[in-house]
Amino acid sequence: MKYAIVLAAGQGTRMKSETPKVMHSLVDKPMLEHIIENLEEIAVDETHVVVGYQKEQIKEYFQNRVQFHDQEELLGTGHAVMQVQDLQDKEGKTILLYGDCPLVQPETMESLFKEVESVDMVVLTADLKDPGEYGRVVRDNQGKVIRIVEYRDASDHEKKIREINTGIYCFNNKSLFKYLNELSTDNSQNEYYITDLVEIFAKQNLEIKAIKVNDINEVMGINSRVQLAQAEKWLRQHINCYWMEQGVTLIDPNNTYISTDTTIGQDTIIYPGTYLKGKNQIGQRVEIRGNTWLENVEIGDNTIIEASKIIDSRVSHDVKVGPFAHLRNGTIIEAYNRIGNFVEVKKSTFHEDARCAHLSYIGDTTVGKKVNIGAGVVTVNFDGFNKHHTEIEEGAFIGSNVNLIAPITVGKEAVVAAGSTIKKDVADGALVIERAMETTKEGYGWKYLAKKHEKE
Ligand code: UD1
Ligand code: MG
Repeated sequence: MKYAIVLAAGQGTRMKSETPKVMHSLVDKPMLEHIIENLEEIAVDETHVVVGYQKEQIKEYFQNRVQFHDQEELLGTGHAVMQVQDLQDKEGKTILLYGDCPLVQPETMESLFKEVESVDMVVLTADLKDPGEYGRVVRDNQGKVIRIVEYRDASDHEKKIREINTGIYCFNNKSLFKYLNELSTDNSQNEYYITDLVEIFAKQNLEIKAIKVNDINEVMGINSRVQLAQAEKWLRQHINCYWMEQGVTLIDPNNTYISTDTTIGQDTIIYPGTYLKGKNQIGQRVEIRGNTWLENVEIGDNTIIEASKIIDSRVSHDVKVGPFAHLRNGTIIEAYNRIGNFVEVKKSTFHEDARCAHLSYIGDTTVGKKVNIGAGVVTVNFDGFNKHHTEIEEGAFIGSNVNLIAPITVGKEAVVAAGSTIKKDVADGALVIERAMETTKEGYGWKYLAKKHEKE
C-alpha cells in the first residue's frame, strides 16, 4: 500500500495573508491542490493532510478527497506526523510532503516509493550553492547519512555543508511509526522535528538512503509572495515546455498562460497574451490569436479564435470566432460557423454552417443550420422577470438591426426584414417586416441646409 502525509497546519506568516499559505493560488489552483492531484496521479491509496490554521477553509475545499487530521498546537513537523495515528499499524510505504512545497512532480514521488522498497527511509536532498536556512544533511566518513541538523541548531562547521534537506521523505510505514514517539523537543525551537528520525534510524542501524533531486526548482519551498511568483514562473514554463514538446507552437512562451488541466492538439498555434484557465480541450491545428481568454472550453480542430473570451462553452471544428467575441454559459457552436466581431452569445446553440458576423447579442437561442444573422441583431430574452427562448429555424435570414422578442420562433427559411422588432412567431418561408412608413419630401434637404447656412 502507498500512503501520503502532507503537512499543512502552519499559517505561513511571511505571506502576510488571512488565507492559509497552502490555499494561495499557483497557476490557477491552491498550492495544496497541485500536491493532492500529483498524489492522485500516482495512485496513492490514502492521503492524510494535517491541518491547523484556518483548517475549515482547507477541509471545505478538498472535502473527502483526503483524510484530515487536526493539529491543535503547532509543536513541529514531527508532532504534525504524530496526528496521523490511523496509519500507525499499517504495512506499506509512506511519502511525507510539506504543503508549501507544491512543485514536486509525480515522477519524483514515484521514484521515492521505488527507492524505499529496499531501505527504511529515503530522504530527498539537494546540493545548493547558497544553502540558506535549510536543514543540513550530515554524513559520516564513509558518506553514510547520519543526521539532519536544522540551521538554527547547526554548528558553524555544519552550516558550511551544502547538501540540504528538501523536506520530502519516504518511509517504511511501520518503521516510521515505531520510532516517531522517540522524538524529543530538545532543540533551539522546543519542537518535535521529523528530521531527528534520521539520527534515530541511523542509531538503530535502519537503512537510510539520500537521493539528490534532478531539478532543484521542484523542491522550492514557498514562504513569501516573491517565492510564490518564482514558483508560478517555473510551473508555467514547465507546462509550456511540455506542450511545445507535444507539437504545439507558442509564439511567446513567456506570455502564454496554460492551466494544468488543459490539453492541446498537435500543430495548434497560440499567440501571445492567451490565457487558458480551468479545464480546456483544444483540438489540432487550432489557431488561438492574441489576447484570448478560454476557460472550461472545448475547441475542435482547425478552428480559429481571435482576441476573444469563451467560458464554459463548446466550439466545434472549422469555426471562426472573433475578433472580440464573447461566448458563455454552455454555448455550443457546431462546425463551419462564423461568430464575428463584437458578438455575444449566451447559453445558445448554433447548428452547423450558420453566420452571425457582427455586433449582435444572441441569448437563450437555438439557431438552425445555415441561418444568417445580420449585423446588430438582438434576441430580447429578458422581460425583467424571466428569461425566454428564441428559436431560429434552419435557413432563416435575419436582417440587420432586428429585435426578436422572446419567446419567439422564426420558421424555416423565413425572412425578417432589417430594422424590424418582432414579437409574434414567423411561419416557415414567410417574410415579416415591421417598420414605420418611409416618406420622402423632395428638395427638403437643400432647404434645410440653406436655413443652416443663414444662421452661420
Ligand atoms: C523544514 C525542515 C528542514 C528543511 C525545510 C525544507 C524540519 C524540522 N525542518 O524546515 O530541514 O530544510 O523544511 O523546506 O522539518 N508544519 C505543520 N505543523 C507544525 C510545523 C510545521 O503542519 O507544527 C508544516 C508547515 O505548515 C509547513 C511544513 O510543515 O508546510 C514545514 O514547516 P516549516 O516550519 O516551514 O519548516 P522549515 O523551517 O521550512
Ligand atoms: Mg518551510
